[in-house]
Amino acid sequence: MIKALSYVVVHTPHLAEWLKMAGEHIGMQVDIVQPGECARLRVDEKVQRFVLQAVDGESSMVMGLEASDAAAFAQARQALQQAGYQTRPGSGEEIALRGVADLFHFDDPDGCRVEVALGLADATTPFVPGRPLGGFRTGDMGLGHVAFITPKFDEMCHLYKEVLQFKVSDYTSVPFKVEFLHVNPRHHTLGIAYTGGPRKLYHLMLEYNDFDDLGRAHDIALENPDCIGVTLGRHINDHVTSFYLKNPDGWMLELGWAARTIGPDWQVEELSGMSLWGHDRTWLPADKREHARQILKDLSKRGLRAPVVTTSQTAKVSQ
Ligand SMILES: [Fe+2]
Repeated sequence: MIKALSYVVVHTPHLAEWLKMAGEHIGMQVDIVQPGECARLRVDEKVQRFVLQAVDGESSMVMGLEASDAAAFAQARQALQQAGYQTRPGSGEEIALRGVADLFHFDDPDGCRVEVALGLADATTPFVPGRPLGGFRTGDMGLGHVAFITPKFDEMCHLYKEVLQFKVSDYTSVPFKVEFLHVNPRHHTLGIAYTGGPRKLYHLMLEYNDFDDLGRAHDIALENPDCIGVTLGRHINDHVTSFYLKNPDGWMLELGWAARTIGPDWQVEELSGMSLWGHDRTWLPADKREHARQILKDLSKRGLRAPVVTTSQTAKVSQ
């Protein structure tokens, strides 16, 4: 039904800072649509993967989920309506700005807008990164993954698992409750977390093709260490090596490399933590941070390690 996270729409009171971070730090291509008002960011051959729109008030982020085909687009809309969600068609202006063939939107149980789109156009020009790099891993895995915290965990899981037919990848209860869901070979396209706190967008993960490009993003972040929300580490489930960069709106972009993919033989399991090593969450309360450290020490004592599998690296050994 849904084949990928296709794009996101970010409403931000900090457009200029976003553009600087996107282009100079992360290496995305910045296409200005309307100076000071609107920009599109590219990470691949597609016309956009982020639409940034300036707002005066609070920041927000809208996920654009891509339907597999026209039949799936209609099926998703019908399934949402049957489940009690009101769906509304996108305007001609919204469809043109995103470069999609069609879209509708609805509000999730927390009242946040979600878009379901059909198609995403290729750009007419090649992707030119904001700094020299080997590109981002997208294709049939989509843009990346999104993780958010919700007080309505059960309703949110019902929406994505039962109504939109996402499949469970794995789940954990430490250091807080999370379900990881997939729709394509990317280990997870969504992470739905319950911490007891209010709705909060946690992060969006982008994956570099090349390890050195992640390292350079980390070098740039170290020039201003306060921008690192989660230190360099490796996740226990998708095996991605990553760190989390605070964006100008306060939520984070996880910059990663070499996430493993999953196939039809995938076995769902309960995880014994979030990370194999690293990933110190600088924003956690001291007791939870210490608990996370203890989990890492226990994993270390058990000698738990995971292979690195990378199929997207563009850099080659020079002869
Ligand atoms: Fe993540």
